[in-house]
Amino acid sequence: MLKTKAKSRLPEDFHDLVDPEQATVDRSIFSDEEIYKLELERIFARGWNFMCHESQIPKPGDFFLSFIGDDSVIATRDKTGKLQVFLNTCRHRGNAVCRAEQGHTKSFLCTYHGWTYGLDGKLIGVPGYKDFYHEDLDRSQWGLVAAPHVESYKGFVFACMDPDAPNLNEFLGPVGRIGLDLIAERGRIVPIDGIKKNIIGCNWKLAVDNAFDYYHAPLTHASTIMVRNPRVDKEGNALPPRANSSANDHRVMLGSYGHAISGPKVSETERSLAALLPDHKIEPRVDLAWRDKPETLEAMGPAGIEINSHPNIFPNMWVTESSQVALRIPRGPRSTEVWWFSFVDADLSDERQKAYVEHSNFLHGPSGMNEQEDGENWDQSTRGTASILAKNFPLNYAMNRDRGEVKFDNAGVAYIDTHVNEHAQLWMYMCWADWMTAPDWSSLKQRHESPPTDRF
Ligand code: FES
Ligand SMILES: [Fe+2]
Repeated sequence: MLKTKAKSRLPEDFHDLVDPEQATVDRSIFSDEEIYKLELERIFARGWNFMCHESQIPKPGDFFLSFIGDDSVIATRDKTGKLQVFLNTCRHRGNAVCRAEQGHTKSFLCTYHGWTYGLDGKLIGVPGYKDFYHEDLDRSQWGLVAAPHVESYKGFVFACMDPDAPNLNEFLGPVGRIGLDLIAERGRIVPIDGIKKNIIGCNWKLAVDNAFDYYHAPLTHASTIMVRNPRVDKEGNALPPRANSSANDHRVMLGSYGHAISGPKVSETERSLAALLPDHKIEPRVDLAWRDKPETLEAMGPAGIEINSHPNIFPNMWVTESSQVALRIPRGPRSTEVWWFSFVDADLSDERQKAYVEHSNFLHGPSGMNEQEDGENWDQSTRGTASILAKNFPLNYAMNRDRGEVKFDNAGVAYIDTHVNEHAQLWMYMCWADWMTAPDWSSLKQRHESPPTDRF
């Protein structure tokens, strides 16, 4: 059982830092070193973490380096084809046993003294085993540390280091599953080669928070919007971007353990554009055809099928409406490494696939306009949360608080239809406090926020 103990300087109950009534969040959670360290233990080391897509490691011996919190891990397939995840650290002196980001191998050889591990993690080679160790080393006890749980959901591979965790399906619940369906149900999904990676000087939660944030887009992304969807008057002069929401055009879903979805539904404009435009002119965001299959409706349900925006699989996996996945990997309280996976349906025409790649390059990653605009704000926000003078003034998450009316679709999935709001952000922090307060999985299972059934 993975048990953790809160340090004395930290609150016994992290709900003290998140106030659902006032809709405020204490600044310290975004920059405090000790809180950050406890997050690595209580959230990342205990939760399910996205590794890679199965198609990135299709054959035995294929591997992909990923992270669980701040720990490097190797996702691979052993000789039987079984998915395995190991900590990327040699049991001798701790050196990394794999340096390449992705590839194919027969074994993992540590470059320090040469201990060698099989694809199943077993220690299979020790230089000097006879002469220096006198065959006294019990090699069966010194294999790579393996994740006790590795599972995939429709091709998306997750690993969990806590033996007491619920299985992936239970962890995801309906909101996590719908979030992943937004990409997994698009067809024969494969990743485009190359993961875009960059480091932003922000706390990882502020980046996650922003995935639900449609309040910022008209201002922060004014230049992107002008380039991409310019508004012009009759004479062709540029107009400022319009505020992007009206009553009930946004849908929110709040799930157990912090999963959430928030943002616009498929709009009438998108429906009519999709119907009018020739196939090759349709932007990935307006690509609606994949939703028409009966199996997709079956998987996502009537409320899920209309979502055209942003799920976050707690803690740090964001699925975009244009079939990309971002991981916000913690790199210290004030640093986040952002990874961008871009996926396409392999059965789309070359031209359509190219449109997806172009769209992903334009918006996200180090060269994308969105991320450059967002990154500046997250960096400054993180600095603002570390302020000695401002630390007693909490952040405000009050938008639409207590005005979101919960409804249920005929599959029993709860949702809120409203305009731009901050429900998912506040909900995420309430669940964050559950994770941070519970010493182990059994108490987290017993005492975590139940998704609202009335109002939020
Ligand atoms: S650190 Fe790996 S063999 Fe010594
Ligand atoms: Fe943004």
